[in-house]
Amino acid sequence: MTRPGGVLAAGRALRLPAHRASSATLAGAYPFLVAPSCTTGVLVGTDALTGEPFCFDPWDLYAAGALTNPNVLLAGVIGQGKSALAKSLALRSIAAGRRVYVPGDPKGEWAPVAHAVGGVVVRLGPGLPTRLNPLDASATEPAVVHTQRLRLLVAVAAVALHRDLAAVEHAVLDAALTSAAADCPVPTIPDVLAALSRPDAVAARADAASVIERVNDGRELAHGLRRLVRGDLAGLFDGPSTQALDPDAPMVVLDLSALGSDDEALELAMTCASGWLDAALAGSTGRRWVIYDEAWRLLRSVPLIRRLQSQWKLSRAYGIANLLVLHRLSDLDAVGAAGSEARALAEGLLADCSTRIVYRQESDQLATAATALGLTRPERDLLPVLPRGVGLWKMPGRSHVVRHHLHTDELAVVDTDAAMRGASPAPPQRPPEVAS
Ligand SMILES: Nc1ncnc2c1ncn2[C@@H]1O[C@H](COP(=O)(O)OP(=O)(O)OP(=O)(O)O)[C@@H](O)[C@H]1O
Ligand SMILES: [Mg+2]
Repeated sequence: MTRPGGVLAAGRALRLPAHRASSATLAGAYPFLVAPSCTTGVLVGTDALTGEPFCFDPWDLYAAGALTNPNVLLAGVIGQGKSALAKSLALRSIAAGRRVYVPGDPKGEWAPVAHAVGGVVVRLGPGLPTRLNPLDASATEPAVVHTQRLRLLVAVAAVALHRDLAAVEHAVLDAALTSAAADCPVPTIPDVLAALSRPDAVAARADAASVIERVNDGRELAHGLRRLVRGDLAGLFDGPSTQALDPDAPMVVLDLSALGSDDEALELAMTCASGWLDAALAGSTGRRWVIYDEAWRLLRSVPLIRRLQSQWKLSRAYGIANLLVLHRLSDLDAVGAAGSEARALAEGLLADCSTRIVYRQESDQLATAATALGLTRPERDLLPVLPRGVGLWKMPGRSHVVRHHLHTDELAVVDTDAAMRGASPAPPQRPPEVAS
């Protein structure tokens, strides 16, 4: 008989002395526990578990079969370095010959990055001289052009009216667009509004409607679209484009910071800008990042998510990798109730991101993140303690904890903390004047 607490007591007899070693040494001792380091693409930083360099390039990894699509989701609480990572990836990818588009920058923090690489910043806002025509054509085939413009108008009207359009409103908008395009090869939103208030009698008769009925059926539509002509967004999207996209520009940023904190104005502007961007992207080729920083502000609008998703479906054909930046994965749930179309669309966006990068998450978000991303218990436990600049990278069949290293030259253009430190932010370097 042994006494309780003796050398053979349960739990003591077989206990091995604790062994401590660096994660680099342990990775050598247990290589089957650590994914092989990612050496394809631009340098991001170091693998925090192995100390090895960590690189990333969604196109090459996709080509090698390591990713099922090139899109990336990046989530993390405020101030953890999400934008810094996105900007670093942009800068380093440009050095590797890629191009970068930021189709909506609500905080105006991407302009210094674009200026640093000789890119173009298009600033849109009340009182500013630049206008973009969302009805610019990206195709040459007239039927395709008509469909693209109609889809865009439907999306803009749905955002403005906070609802889907009725079948009769689709017909009215279709007829108004046809009539506006007959008078002008590249119609504008005011042209469509004019056609809504003076419907074509022959087209109305063909649809078994009178002119008066047409006007009445399109009344709400016209009110919604008028916001872009006479409302708070007047002067942004209500005329021919003053700015053509330079297909050779390494970076194009659409700075929407002048719109302030009005989410609805941002959604409308992003919807209109997506039409202009489609046209611009179709005219250029090569591998391009399209970066949606602060995307959580956009994910409340179902028409905009629909547009994002249809753009994403085409991204592989266009050679585009989308990067969606959120605070938390539950941002995707905020769009609608479980089981709703909106929620399915948002979940589709997540499913279409083969690479998921998670920065620090609050503890109440752990269950959502673990379920959505299929995290292991240690990965889940890591999320609330990740320091700034360190993220969990999940790719099919592999995970890495990566410390993002900023170069000192990059620090000057990615610093968003200057005001908090009481320092004056680095003066923006102005690019060469662009005609507007
Ligand atoms: N890897 C890093 N090394 C050193 N500093 C960093 C790193 N990443 C970010 N920072 C600094 O942290 C600050 C906040 O970073 P950033 O603006 O990228 O955070 P964020 O997650 O995008 O915040 P928000 O949610 O408010 O947009 C910046 O001033 C940036 O310079
Ligand atoms: Mg940010």
